[in-house]
Amino acid sequence: MSTSPIQNQLTELQQEAVQAITTTDNLDNLEQFRIKYLGKKGQLSQILRGMGKLSPEERPQVGALANEVKEAIQGKLDNQKAALEKTQIETQIKAETLDVTMPGVSRPLGKVHPLNGVVDRVLDIFVGLGYTVATGPQVESDYYNFEALNTPADHPARDMQDTFYLPGGNLLRTHTSSVQIRYMENNEPPIRIIAPGRVYRRDTVDATHSAVFNQLELLAVDKGLKFTDLKGTIKEFLQRMFGDELPVQFRTSYFPFTEPSAEVDVQWKGKWLEVMGCGMVDPNVLKAVGYDPEVYSGFAAGFGVERFAMVLHQIDDIRRLYNSDLRFLTQF
Ligand code: DAH
Repeated sequence: MSTSPIQNQLTELQQEAVQAITTTDNLDNLEQFRIKYLGKKGQLSQILRGMGKLSPEERPQVGALANEVKEAIQGKLDNQKAALEKTQIETQIKAETLDVTMPGVSRPLGKVHPLNGVVDRVLDIFVGLGYTVATGPQVESDYYNFEALNTPADHPARDMQDTFYLPGGNLLRTHTSSVQIRYMENNEPPIRIIAPGRVYRRDTVDATHSAVFNQLELLAVDKGLKFTDLKGTIKEFLQRMFGDELPVQFRTSYFPFTEPSAEVDVQWKGKWLEVMGCGMVDPNVLKAVGYDPEVYSGFAAGFGVERFAMVLHQIDDIRRLYNSDLRFLTQF
């Protein structure tokens, strides 16, 4: 039996469609092909419209062939769709792969500056001993910096603390001792304070001097405080700061605002190093803030933050603490 033109058309359609489908690598094109070949107005439907002209004997054969063609094309479409979807997912997975062996993005963390490190430790120790942190202004009046601290204008001790004067007579404070007066004026005993802050001197800058530096001031006022309370407190503090077995020695000294006065040395790396001044608060200082020296007594101490940092970290030049050189700072 010879093949009718419609049967040829069907076989050709199948060949063309299969070829087109298997060579496409795009899911959208695949859908276009489905519409083009198998859609309602697609090529298969168009061919089958010619079935009306066929003889009744031809019809079932052509019908069967049409079904085969349709299934073959549909099968190809399904396979190709599955294959394309699979590659699509694989490419996506590949692109999203996390390579845990890649070096991370590092964001360098800052550190506490050695000066702040000393202040933090000192405050921690004194807060642990029941002290309160107090502060005062850096621009001071002559009264708070000298006068009330038993250092009148003609006092020779002023020579050691020359500073920067402002128009109008105020000055940049030479020590944190001024905070003692300000705090006592506004509070009643018992008093326990530790006061950190920046101070100024008209000093020429060299390896051990700076015109701007930092101090910590200690003050305790209560009934019955004695020199032994001062010694015990200072010793406890220094040992917590530098280590348990640290040898500490007190030497007599002079400060206008304390009587008696002492200087404290610690033995560090085989040498005696002077680390602070201290003493029993002078009765004149207590009187200046309206406390009765017959009722209250107190002790005070003052020391340099830079000096502590230099001793603790064996720093040879004070200027290293100020010039922000990371090669230096990252060591702490
Ligand atoms: N104010 C002194 C200075 O800057 C340090 C000092 C010494 C403070 C003895 C005190 C003290 O409170 O009792 O040199």
